Order: sequence, then structure tokens, then C-alpha cells
Amino acid sequence: MFTADRPYIFHIELTDKCNAGCPMCPRTDHMNFCKPDRTKVFNVELTLEDFRTHFTDGFCARTEEIVFGGAYGDPLAASELLEITEYLTERGVRLATSTNGSLRTPDWWRRMGEAMKRTGSRLELHIDGLADTNHLYRVNTFFEKIMKNARAYIKTGARAEWHFIIFKHNQHQIDEAYRLSREMGFAQFTLIDTIRFSGGPRFEYVMPTGEHRYLDLPNVKAAQFQKSGDGIVAVDSQDEAMPSQHPGINGIDCKSAAFNRPYISAHGQVSACCWVTGSDEEQTFFATHGLGPDRYNIRNRPLEEILLDEPFASHYAKAWSKDSLATCRHKCGKMLRNKRNRLELAEPA
Ligand SMILES: C[S@@+](CC[C@H](N)C(=O)[O-])C[C@H]1O[C@@H](n2cnc3c(N)ncnc32)[C@H](O)[C@@H]1O
Ligand code: SF4
Ligand code: SF4
Repeated sequence: MFTADRPYIFHIELTDKCNAGCPMCPRTDHMNFCKPDRTKVFNVELTLEDFRTHFTDGFCARTEEIVFGGAYGDPLAASELLEITEYLTERGVRLATSTNGSLRTPDWWRRMGEAMKRTGSRLELHIDGLADTNHLYRVNTFFEKIMKNARAYIKTGARAEWHFIIFKHNQHQIDEAYRLSREMGFAQFTLIDTIRFSGGPRFEYVMPTGEHRYLDLPNVKAAQFQKSGDGIVAVDSQDEAMPSQHPGINGIDCKSAAFNRPYISAHGQVSACCWVTGSDEEQTFFATHGLGPDRYNIRNRPLEEILLDEPFASHYAKAWSKDSLATCRHKCGKMLRNKRNRLELAEPA
């Protein structure tokens, strides 16, 4: 799955802590005032020391990009995000940091921008609406604070993208948010169709105030939006199937294998990707091959030794041939992923 002769791209969860309580996030107990689900969240984080140990100068030179995202937390909530960002960008690593943007101060964000722009790194700010709607999904975040932070960051010349998940309650604000993102100097506006309505077109949750609310499926799709003058409009269009770029095995085109892109959790566990990490299926798969979790923790072994070891070396490929991993079939066989429409805002130089 992973090879040492190609540059690595890592997807890293810096922490499982978060200030927000997005109802559809796996960390959120959505019927319990959107509090963290304590069976999944342990308040752990990776430190600058972890990066100094594994991302040596030599290893940074072989690392093309690190995506700071994750499954259970927000990178901004990691105590040493700024120090880690400075350390990696000083060594030439490009970053992509995904956040709700509601923590820290404009001064902190200026320092972040200075570090990020060294390597052309990008910030994905997830803002699903405007002042009156963003907090309906990004529960416990503050729109005005996000705007102040974004302005301070963008002013440094670093790249920022506005990512917008479409719901019924924010679909009428897409054009306005697009225009605002342009005016503020964002480099890209990305619309996202969520696939998390698998249980039906309504998703019930309880706000921290005790108010019962519902998320509803929108009746527009990201792919429908096109630029029109200074704004964007929805036009009638067919959803295009995502073309497969790699042949794959048994119809499974593993994204991690294709891009040499392993996942590391805030516990230090190395996994094949963010979809399988920590799942019952992953645990059963490891156990079937007699592999214990401690072997895959960067606190116990060198990172590259883990990546080139089993189950990544051959067990995954054999499992795809036998079609024994449902997650792999769903995510990389049937391509059941959130769909995105990326609208570039800045003209290329
Ligand atoms: C757990 S978050 C971690 C990063 C960061 N906390 C954030 O929200 O950007 C991982 C990703 O899930 C996305 N996400 C959250 N709720 C979603 C939903 N309902 N549908 C699709 N993606 C969602 C986030 O926007 C983010 O890109
Ligand atoms: S901001 Fe990200 S990690 Fe935090 S609750 Fe929302 S989706 Fe989950
Ligand atoms: S779901 Fe399976 S096939 Fe897809 S990226 Fe993850 S490990 Fe690879």
C-alpha cells in the first residue's frame, strides 16, 4: 500500500479535542446537547516532540504534504499547532489544515499565516453558512470571531479556502457566502454535498440550549453551481460520476495506496485511512492477522518501519481481492464519498 520510493502525503489528526459540536460529527453526542461523546473522545494530542522524532529533516524532504484534519477533533484545539506548523514549513513541508476557525486570536492567526505561506500551504475553513446559520451546524462556534481570524490570516497573503456543506437551512445563502469569500480574499470557495443523511432526509439533534432542531437535506447539489458575474447560481445538471484514476484491485481503487497517503490518529496510531481508523472492521482485520495495536503506534516504533510492515505491505491488497472489507468496497469501490465543487476565486498568476 505504501512505498518508500514515492513522496508521502500524510493525513494526521493532531487532536481529538474540539470547541465545536457539529451534530453529524462522530465525536458529537447529538441528542445530548451536542456534547462530546466520551466513549470516543479522550482529549489526546500529538506534540511538537512527536514531529521532531518522526519528521526529521530527511523525512520532511520526502514528505510532499501533510493534511491536518482527522476524524474526532479540530487541529486548532491542539496546544502546539502553531509550533508544529512552523517546524514543518521551515523544513519545506506543505500543509493543508482543516478547521472550524473559531479558536485563537487574530494575532495568533497572523503568525499562522506567516508560517503557512512559506510553503504555499492552505487553510480549509469550514463555514457552513453566515452569521445567522453557521452555528446551526457548527454548534458552539462564533461567526464574527471566525471572520476576524480569517481576515487576519488572509492579510498575510497565505492561502485560505471557504468550505461550505450544503443543508436546507443554508442553501439560500450560497451566493452571498461566495461573494463574501471573494471580497475577503479567499482563494477558493468549495461547496460540499454531505453523505451523512444515510438514515433519512431529516437528522434530529438537541442544541446546547436544549432546543430540538432538525437538519434537512437540501434540494440543490454542489455540482449544480456555476459562476455567473460576481456570484454563483444553480443550474440544472446531472451529477457526474467520479472517474477512477487508478485501476485498483477488484474494482477497489484505494485512495491511500494511490497517493501514498497514510493516516495517523491523535493517539499516534497509524492506519490505512481516515475511514477505517479505529473502526470495528479495522480491529477485526488486524486481529485476524494476529496483529496487536501497539505495533502501529508511532510512540513505540519508527513511522516508516510501521508503514512498510503488514497489514499495509500485503494484507490489505489480499482483502480487496477477496472483497472482505466493507468500508473499502463502499469508499473506494462504490465511491460513496462527500462530493465537492471547487470554485477557484483568484486568477492564477
Ligand atoms: C472531524 S472534521 C476534522 C477537521 C475540522 N474539525 C473540521 O471540521 O474541519 C473532518 C471533516 O469532516 C467534515 N464534516 C463535518 N461534518 C460533516 C458533514 N455533515 N458532512 C460532510 N463532512 C462533514 C469537516 O468539515 C471536516 O472536513
Ligand atoms: S469542527 Fe470538526 S471535529 Fe469539531 S465537531 Fe465539527 S466536524 Fe467535528
Ligand atoms: S477505505 Fe480501504 S480502499 Fe479506501 S482508502 Fe481506506 S484503506 Fe484504502
